[in-house]
Amino acid sequence: MTLSIAQMKTDDDILRNIAKPVQNISSEDIQNLIDRLMFTCEKAKGMGIAAPQIFQSKQIFIMSSHPNERYPDAPVMVPVAVINPKIIWQSHDFEKDWEGCLSVPDIRGLVLRSRTINVTYTNRYDEKIEAEYHGFLARLFQHEYDHLKGILFIDKVLSEADIITEKEYQNVMMKRII
Ligand code: NI
Repeated sequence: MTLSIAQMKTDDDILRNIAKPVQNISSEDIQNLIDRLMFTCEKAKGMGIAAPQIFQSKQIFIMSSHPNERYPDAPVMVPVAVINPKIIWQSHDFEKDWEGCLSVPDIRGLVLRSRTINVTYTNRYDEKIEAEYHGFLARLFQHEYDHLKGILFIDKVLSEADIITEKEYQNVMMKRII
């Protein structure tokens, strides 16, 4: 399996597209695509990945939160495939925190997101799911959801002062831990 991940600028033709809804979730094509997304997310050590990032303009993303050195406070979850998602409600209570993206390497930015969201989506077993997410998971969902609309986190960074390199970010995190 390939680990090729679409990169901002170079692959804007796919990353900036609006992804299409998925029809036949149980089909082999879609199940294989979900497996490839799960595999790529794990190998790239991502917390999530959206289908356009592996050159498939379809409304699917993976959420796979777990603590690591970049996000020590991330909750642990079984990786889930989110298909045809909708954000049906979002809080007007916002929170600014650091984000990164496999398609925007070596850069971190502070992004304002709703602290709580209510969502619906279909999982890979064709079951309709309703969920409420808070904090980190709400942020992760909103980040991946944006990918399906052709939006990258960097579009939502309000000031240049809120962009730092991966190396600077690691220093910030070190200070936080100490
Ligand atoms: Ni991303």
